[in-house]
Amino acid sequence: MSEKLLVTSALPYANGSIHLGHLVEYIQTDIYVRYRRSIGDDVTYVCAADSHGTPIEVNAGKAGVTPREFVERYRTEQHADFQRFGVDFSTYYTTDSEENRKWAWRIWDALKARGLIYKKSVEQLYCEKDARFLPDRFVKGTCPRCGTPEQYGDVCEKCGTTYDPRELKDPRCALCASSPVVRKSDHAYVDLKKVEPAIRAWVEGEGHLDAAVREQVKGWLDDLQDWCITRDAPYFGFPVKDPDFPGKFIYVWLDAPIGYLSSAEHFFASEAPAGERLAPSAFEATYLAPGSPSRLEHFIGKDILRFHAVFWPAMLGAADLKLPERLAVHGHLTVNGEKMSKSRGTFVTARTYLDAGLDPQLLRYYYAANLGPGVSDIDLSLEEFRNRINADLANNVANLASRVAALVERAGGELDGEPEKGIADVTREALRLALPSYQALEYREVVRLVNQVANACNKRLQEGKPWEAPASAESRRLLVSCARALRAISVMLWPVMPLFADELCAAFGQTRPGTWTAGFDPFSGPPVVARAKPPQIARLDAKQVARLVAAPEAAPAPVPATGLIGFDDFARVELRVALIRAAVRVPKADKLLQLTVDVGEPAPRTIVAGIAASYPEPEWLVGKRVVVVANLEPRALRGITSQGMLLAAGDPPRILQVDDGIAPGTRVK
Ligand code: 2FM
Ligand code: ZN
Repeated sequence: MSEKLLVTSALPYANGSIHLGHLVEYIQTDIYVRYRRSIGDDVTYVCAADSHGTPIEVNAGKAGVTPREFVERYRTEQHADFQRFGVDFSTYYTTDSEENRKWAWRIWDALKARGLIYKKSVEQLYCEKDARFLPDRFVKGTCPRCGTPEQYGDVCEKCGTTYDPRELKDPRCALCASSPVVRKSDHAYVDLKKVEPAIRAWVEGEGHLDAAVREQVKGWLDDLQDWCITRDAPYFGFPVKDPDFPGKFIYVWLDAPIGYLSSAEHFFASEAPAGERLAPSAFEATYLAPGSPSRLEHFIGKDILRFHAVFWPAMLGAADLKLPERLAVHGHLTVNGEKMSKSRGTFVTARTYLDAGLDPQLLRYYYAANLGPGVSDIDLSLEEFRNRINADLANNVANLASRVAALVERAGGELDGEPEKGIADVTREALRLALPSYQALEYREVVRLVNQVANACNKRLQEGKPWEAPASAESRRLLVSCARALRAISVMLWPVMPLFADELCAAFGQTRPGTWTAGFDPFSGPPVVARAKPPQIARLDAKQVARLVAAPEAAPAPVPATGLIGFDDFARVELRVALIRAAVRVPKADKLLQLTVDVGEPAPRTIVAGIAASYPEPEWLVGKRVVVVANLEPRALRGITSQGMLLAAGDPPRILQVDDGIAPGTRVK
């Protein structure tokens, strides 16, 4: 029977670019979501940018923009990156939303009504120069235990000791390097001991947590510390409405997981397809009320387990909402066996991966091949990545597909009939085992099954040599068996490599079943027809893969001193500030956007720019100030006359922005 699910991945801070470490989780979740959808379940997959907190407020200030603008930039970039890796969110919203404010206040009120919030005066480090309390990561000093300098305020990277920032020797403000003072401030705390039995009951509930994770959480419950949920100004977050805590802000970690609910509410209220919209009350009844007919499943990394397994159930329980049906916890990513590191050049962003010309589906496959349900870290060894793709995909699956396609063609182009028993047995068994493996997040087992089927087919081809007499009854039988086994592979592999799988199926005139049930049999159905070339997987060479970890902080190649232009040449180029008034896609041109820009002239101009890849939501550009070449000859692009060119950089290109204070039309000199 089909189930309704609300599935989430952790909300990335809107404070940086998506990297391959993030992608482990989003790919893991997306595979699960696609698997569930392929078996007919109704899955809403929600994510959002985690938009609040001190680092965002500070970095927005450094960038000279409002926190809201800052967050929106990253939200757009992150969403585009996720889409390019095939992560199929129902929505990618933000925690800085009205819906989230309402939910955060509601949960605060619920905690308060249950008598779970109390006030405590606490001493913290305060920077008088910056006029702010310093979060642990904004203090640096010498480890009180081992004496290593330049350690953060919460933990020494060298000896692993955790401490209070006040214990650091010679503490410094990480922003201005002045010495902070100790100051007192009142804060709101949640008395977790009062709700410990309810949390424990959930932790021990069947299916909620993996066994090893459960033990770890139980350890925390044995020694519960109360939780501080307020922060002082300056802060980017929701103000506390409770008159007992005037001037305070809600700590980002309170409203972040609430963002799961508010983003889902937003999706159902305004983004869902027309026939599937739900008013907030109906959404709540369907997805959040205790006993509601749906499953709530969160995917997270092990570093944020305590927030999700202790604090989050306490919040949900206080608000009389149901607790999650499952918390799926994964380990971290290492690259070539070590923590990703900028200085070693192994901090690989999603963009770097794409710029290396690598198909995102290959990373999805590699992660799947290494993912199980536990919390062990997964390693992206570049050599293993290359070997895995070459051995499994290029040499085994894709090679099988291209051999079979060519032979089907030679055997007449259309085949039907009973399969060979050996191939049919292996394939049916693989399909049977793949279903529970997906459900248990044992993706590496699915990958093994796929390869087992492809191996069996390749082996039979070697034995049967159908190329010697392609039209014989035996050859035709072997070929139809292989083509239909490839259909099974396509079904099993679709959650991992959806584009590849669909092309694979279509190449033989086969369709994936609308719903993959336990009874699905790939050996019945329409005849096998050689329709199109099957998808290819080019073998990866070491050079291409090495581009992922290009030389650390490599300097750009120096500009050669040839082709110099004089100042007069430069002065002939009329660069002007332009304000973008509208931005829309150019139909049937993936790379182009049509912009309406104000260059300080009586009428706006139309400019066609090749920047679409960076802006999946072109309206984000509206209101941005850019620089255009205003005296360029007009030129027609896709039937639209472009009256100028705008400056952009990067691959794919992104606009160069200008400060708000500069009026449209201002000459750039
Ligand atoms: O650790 C992080 O990156 C957080 N932004 C995750 C938040 S997950 C959820 F609680 F919103
Ligand atoms: Zn300071």
